[in-house]
Amino acid sequence: MSLKDSIESVKNDFLTEFASIGDSSSSEILKQKYLGRNGLVTELFKELGKVSSDDRPLYGQLLNGLKNELFEKISSVQSGSDSNDSSDYVDIALPGKSYSRGSSHILEQTFTDIKKIFGEIGFSVAYGPEIDDDYHNFTALNVPEHHPARDMQDTFFVDKDIVLRTHTSNVQIHLMEEKDPPLRFIVPGRVYRNESISYKSYCLFHQVEGLFVEKNVSFGQLKGTLEYFVKKMFGSDRKMRWRPSYFPFTEPSAEVDIWDEQRNQWMEILGCGMVDPEVFKSVGYDPKVWRGYAFGMGVERIAMLKHGIDDIRLFYNGDIRFLRQF
Ligand code: PHE
Repeated sequence: MSLKDSIESVKNDFLTEFASIGDSSSSEILKQKYLGRNGLVTELFKELGKVSSDDRPLYGQLLNGLKNELFEKISSVQSGSDSNDSSDYVDIALPGKSYSRGSSHILEQTFTDIKKIFGEIGFSVAYGPEIDDDYHNFTALNVPEHHPARDMQDTFFVDKDIVLRTHTSNVQIHLMEEKDPPLRFIVPGRVYRNESISYKSYCLFHQVEGLFVEKNVSFGQLKGTLEYFVKKMFGSDRKMRWRPSYFPFTEPSAEVDIWDEQRNQWMEILGCGMVDPEVFKSVGYDPKVWRGYAFGMGVERIAMLKHGIDDIRLFYNGDIRFLRQF
């Protein structure tokens, strides 16, 4: 048989065997049989010495072509499993995969700022239930039976007596039921209202409640504390104003507005006042001995005013383009 015929027949044998291999271990056997040290193709190379020097370049080319073809075929089924395979090559000069880092939500950042400011002046942090009974959300806070806040329009009722809390003030009652005075707490949390939705109101939002109970507490101290808070939060140049207001659980009561530079108007950020003696009575504190102030601030509105965010709905839709800005 001429060398040319031998090359042909080795190639045909290989192709027949290759067509029936099942997995990469049988391909390894095939590789040894043909391309190994004593493999069939290797043996053919030894024949090269016997052909005339004129014919040698041609046969050399044919044999190299055969060797490369077999090698490629075997590699194609072995890729990924053979440690000598070129696909295992790691280019250590390539740049690494970059993973984008998460960050805390702008609301969480605002909670952190608020907690820090009040923490520095002696307030501890407490939490309470988002689903509560009518008593803690309304009755114990002196909210009368006919008050509009108790209406289906304003409150999400879970049951006849169970509500999604409409404010964090419910935790005032829990705290005073559990602890003896004096008390100095802030209460961050989520609240729910069945309100019509607009750029500044949503069906859920977040508040930080404040409660300070001592023997001698004045409205002047409440005012000083909240003005200190506004300065720390917004800087001392920010315009703020006090407005008299009404809440069933405080007397006297007030609200604080901050100037909304984007809309050129005032925006309310908090309600506050001196704890009503009726509230003290419902938790068993003697209103002749104890006095207190309380406040409840809207966290979204504070973040909107601080960062120039013009729509409250942006806080909840998870748009990464919005969240990345903070
Ligand atoms: N709970 C009131 C509100 O949600 C705010 C408030 C809290 C007012 C404490 C006075 C005292 O609007």
